[in-house]
Amino acid sequence: MHKSPELRLARRMSRLGTETAFEVLVKARALEAKGRDIVHLEIGEPDFDTPRNIIDAATDALHKGFTHYGPSAGLPQLKETIAQYVSETRRVNVSLDEVVVVPGGKPIIFFSILALVEESDEVIYPNPGFPIYESMITYIGAKAVPIRLREEMDFRLDVNELAGLINDRTKLIILNSPQNPTGGVLTKSDIEGIADAIGDRNIMVLSDEIYSRLIFEGEHHSIMSINGMKERTILLDGFSKAYAMTGWRMGYGVMRADLATHVARLQTNSNSCTASFSQVAGVEALRGPQDSVDQMCAEFKKRRDVMVAGLNQIKGFSCRLPKGAFYVFPNITKTGWPSKKLADALLDDAGVAGLSGTAFGNFGEGYLRFSVANSIENIEKALDGVSDWASKNL
Ligand SMILES: Cc1ncc(COP(=O)(O)O)c(C=O)c1O
Repeated sequence: MHKSPELRLARRMSRLGTETAFEVLVKARALEAKGRDIVHLEIGEPDFDTPRNIIDAATDALHKGFTHYGPSAGLPQLKETIAQYVSETRRVNVSLDEVVVVPGGKPIIFFSILALVEESDEVIYPNPGFPIYESMITYIGAKAVPIRLREEMDFRLDVNELAGLINDRTKLIILNSPQNPTGGVLTKSDIEGIADAIGDRNIMVLSDEIYSRLIFEGEHHSIMSINGMKERTILLDGFSKAYAMTGWRMGYGVMRADLATHVARLQTNSNSCTASFSQVAGVEALRGPQDSVDQMCAEFKKRRDVMVAGLNQIKGFSCRLPKGAFYVFPNITKTGWPSKKLADALLDDAGVAGLSGTAFGNFGEGYLRFSVANSIENIEKALDGVSDWASKNL
């Protein structure tokens, strides 16, 4: 028999991480296929449908022939809409050549790191944090320097600690607020402190604000709004979370024009462009009625309240009230179980799919992440499952 030749992967592939949420989803679906009843609290996407006006705009665009390639950096009408939206919401002046539209928020992480970071550089990133940051930093061979998000500070970072991590090799600092997985939100004074810590150094900031519309208490603050920071900031935002458009693959970066041309070149080399009819729908998303965003946010807040109150009743669990996004991040150290083992046991024994805090970096040990992008009925079912499990096993 013909033996297939050895697969000789590039060494860099051993440094590439992943997003465990997709793996847990596969495992949960396999259990469902065997007849098990599972409550899905693992994946980070709104359970709502994309608003009707946006779907209509996309189908209309398809009929009108938006089925071809477009410019790599995005259709001018969408770039114009984004420039206006970001100018208003972040109180800065954004022009068309500072906007790059990409398929989802994720490519902005990949492209910014590819465009800016050398192997000898250091990148500071939040931990626990969205796993793609660490994955991309190590993939390109740079040093990933975690800044710990502290539970006692409602999962914000300590600005003095951040200042202590900055050195001459720091090329990029990644911020994420509202934050995945903790729901932490940076305050205005945090943002000002971070800008002060950077001072005059030639360091860029990748500010991941994909959850900026999902905020329950207070306001969203962007480092881009701070005097002198616009030229150093790459703003990442998009449509996935605010408009329940995860499957459309639509996001964008706003950055200085001389960097935007390089990011657009990476787009030419990879995706060519973002789907044209999706982009036309993006114009409708930003310009059309916004009540669905507000309704979705209000619903997430209700669910968060139910989930946090319920978790705090369960032996071994304690949970802070997240201020944004749609996740809760309970501390489970008093269960005596390691996070991964506990997440596996809850899926296998209680039918509740959540993620281990360690899926978001080493500082996630001692925590689990549950998404509240599910109905209150299912959240209550999950709480009953976890509670039963805890009373039998702890
Ligand atoms: C913090 C953060 N940034 C970026 C993304 C990527 O979003 P998209 O699906 O638009 O690529 C996610 C998705 O979960 C996220 O949580």
